[in-house]
Amino acid sequence: MRVSLAQWLELSDFDVTVYADARDALGDMTSDFAGVVLTDVKMPKMDGISFTKSVLATDGDIPVILMTGHGDVPMAVEAMKSGAYDFVEKPFEPKDIVESLERAIEKRRLVIENRQLRRQIAHRGSLDGRLIGNSKQMYALKEEIANIAATEVPVLISGETGTGKELVARAIHDLSDRRDEKFVAVNCAAIPESTAESELFGHEKGAFTGAAGQRIGWIEHAIKGTLFLDEISSMPLALQAKLLRVIEQREVVRVGSNSPVKVDFRLICATNENLTDAVSARQFREDLMFRINTFELAITPLRDRTDDIALLFDIFAERAAERFERPYDRPAPSLIGQLKKHEWPGNVRELKNLAERYVLLVGSPEDRFQRLFKGGFDLAEPVATALALADQVKHFEERLIRDALDRHDGNVKSVMEELDIPRRTLNEKMKKLNIRRDKIV
Ligand SMILES: Nc1ncnc2c1ncn2[C@@H]1O[C@H](COP(=O)(O)OP(=O)(O)OP(=O)(O)O)[C@@H](O)[C@H]1O
Ligand SMILES: [Mg+2]
Repeated sequence: MRVSLAQWLELSDFDVTVYADARDALGDMTSDFAGVVLTDVKMPKMDGISFTKSVLATDGDIPVILMTGHGDVPMAVEAMKSGAYDFVEKPFEPKDIVESLERAIEKRRLVIENRQLRRQIAHRGSLDGRLIGNSKQMYALKEEIANIAATEVPVLISGETGTGKELVARAIHDLSDRRDEKFVAVNCAAIPESTAESELFGHEKGAFTGAAGQRIGWIEHAIKGTLFLDEISSMPLALQAKLLRVIEQREVVRVGSNSPVKVDFRLICATNENLTDAVSARQFREDLMFRINTFELAITPLRDRTDDIALLFDIFAERAAERFERPYDRPAPSLIGQLKKHEWPGNVRELKNLAERYVLLVGSPEDRFQRLFKGGFDLAEPVATALALADQVKHFEERLIRDALDRHDGNVKSVMEELDIPRRTLNEKMKKLNIRRDKIV
């Protein structure tokens, strides 16, 4: 019956795995099992009811359909109460079971999809604390990170200096299933060409003059974890060929050795140069580029997402004030608004540095800004007062709401009570200020 039912189901386009022993099937059950279990009740070794219970203990949302003999119906009903999805009474026509299977598979698909979404939302939330910025570019970037972190695909992060490439690489690692393993960061521009090979790939004792002992390379250090190759375009061509081999074969051969070592790592690379240009200039291997850029995250320079500047300045200054135990005189929004005119060649790193220096200086905010920009700062520019006030109010409101949501773990009701505003007003304000509850939760 097992064999003929399997054939019938395969003809109806189901992907079927048959087991003669329920215990073998249990060994293959995981919480991300994407299918449905169809089982008899009376079976040798392990009966269908205990099997159902064990499957549901693995994941209570796996649909289990029982095939029951004539007198077993009360038992099947009992099983349904403890979480089985459905039962069919024997004898039955195979087609009778198809509909139930299809419904169960669809339900399972929705459960899995839902879990993935939840995981993404949770990731988004934790990303907001690390990657500051609400501009649409930052928002999209965070969405992409949450989306690909849990996958194993190699990621290439591109962006100018100081845009946060390393920060993004670490965020991907911390949101991936490798989060408890090592994150090994190697700056390809900082290792001298003469030792780069043995630093990356390792060497055996006596491999070359001066190789007194064995050395485990960075790639082997990253086993099970994430290998972050920063400034990948600076890697010498000879090493690029060797790296390509490691990525393709998933094994590394230490200098002076003949036996390869299996390596399993997630690869993240970063570059502040355009790799395609480097390929055209014959400084970078095209085949390697295609291996590492399966997924590319391009970080927008700060001058092209000026919406992030005020928030970044504010948070950096606030943190610096806490660290240096200084008061933080928040500059007026009109003053911060002036920061948008700067080019920010050093991007976020430059802004962070400036915010810290601001906190350490004394004098009025205007004075300090003048000094930070060595007088090259245009404060004479008239700023519409009404706009500045509106900006100021908006900013203040945003902080109050965010703080309250934070304190109440995203519980809107408690926030309404604390701020004494009706739900609709709060919803409208959150929408207007682009505050999302799920991000805070
Ligand atoms: N969105 C952001 N939110 C908070 N901090 C940020 C953000 N972007 C960058 N930073 C901070 O700016 C500094 C520079 O970031 P990071 O070192 O990741 O840049 P990078 O792109 O690797 O630069 P480089 O190319 O010079 O190595 C770090 O202190 C980082 O924490
Ligand atoms: Mg960097």
